Amino acid sequence: MFSLAGKTVVVTGGGRGIGRGIGLAMAEAGANVVVAGRGEATLLEAAEAIRAAGGTALAVTCDITQMADINALVAAATDAFGYIDCWVNNAGSASPSDNGPLLDIDEGQWDRVVDLNLKWTFFAAQAAARAMTRGGSIINLTSRSASQPSPMVGHYGAAKAGVESLTATMAVEWGHLGIRVNAIAPGVVLVDSLSTMQSESRQRRQIETVPMQRLGRVEDVAPLAVYFASDESQWVTGTVVPVNGGSRIPIGLLSYLHRVNKPKDDAATMA
Ligand SMILES: NC(=O)c1ccc[n+]([C@@H]2O[C@H](COP(=O)([O-])OP(=O)(O)OC[C@H]3O[C@@H](n4cnc5c(N)ncnc54)[C@H](OP(=O)(O)O)[C@@H]3O)[C@@H](O)[C@H]2O)c1
Repeated sequence: MFSLAGKTVVVTGGGRGIGRGIGLAMAEAGANVVVAGRGEATLLEAAEAIRAAGGTALAVTCDITQMADINALVAAATDAFGYIDCWVNNAGSASPSDNGPLLDIDEGQWDRVVDLNLKWTFFAAQAAARAMTRGGSIINLTSRSASQPSPMVGHYGAAKAGVESLTATMAVEWGHLGIRVNAIAPGVVLVDSLSTMQSESRQRRQIETVPMQRLGRVEDVAPLAVYFASDESQWVTGTVVPVNGGSRIPIGLLSYLHRVNKPKDDAATMA
């Protein structure tokens, strides 16, 4: 079950974090894996880790916010392995310097976050779909932020909500081409870049909101991606699957409300 032997999978942002884990899991299931991103060193390390585990990997440096790079990535994957069976739109993030309350977000912050997470996820998916002339699977990484309030990262949540909307429409428009499109919406998955979650006290507070009593791991997300890439999911399209340990409380929501709802003057509150 879930063999990807003979298939080729492209993972954007495959050099680190969730994307690295997805690449490893895809290779373990038998796929040729193309990892893409801007950081050459991390990409080479990720490709080496796949090879060390017995898999086949190609590292392609690519800025997903450049159309020429997207086209070059499609060409590199196709030249190396003949066909792209699955494309994982994993590249995305909201850099801490671009985050803040909605009253303060400026145009540059909005554009950087929404362009990377929405606009370029769309154009990458479009390029992948155009290359999938005999069908395939596209997997979009969204977030719990897409469907719940996301204080301090409202623009990121809006972009991910846009990706969930596109997932539904792509599934309809591309179904007759044999292309399936699904999304994975993780809760908090502890990766090195998640700077807001590095302190132990912050982690403890977040864990209190998770019925399964821990934060997510890359390994919690990757198996679902393997399923979506496999033929076993060939009648599954247009879905968004949450992977969040049952948590329904977004990252930062409690901290934000705690901060703004704190009584300003305890004496006045008592009166
Ligand atoms: N971790 C979580 O808790 C969580 C929760 C919900 C959703 N997600 C989503 O899951 C996905 C992976 O997140 P992560 O936590 O693994 O983040 P991460 O560790 O920060 O990794 C982000 C990846 O995206 C790549 N990337 C960023 N900008 C890029 C660009 N312009 N061109 C190409 N690649 C680019 C990065 O590679 P380079 O920097 O080398 O380019 C990196 O590989 C993202 O879409 C994120 O929004 C994460």
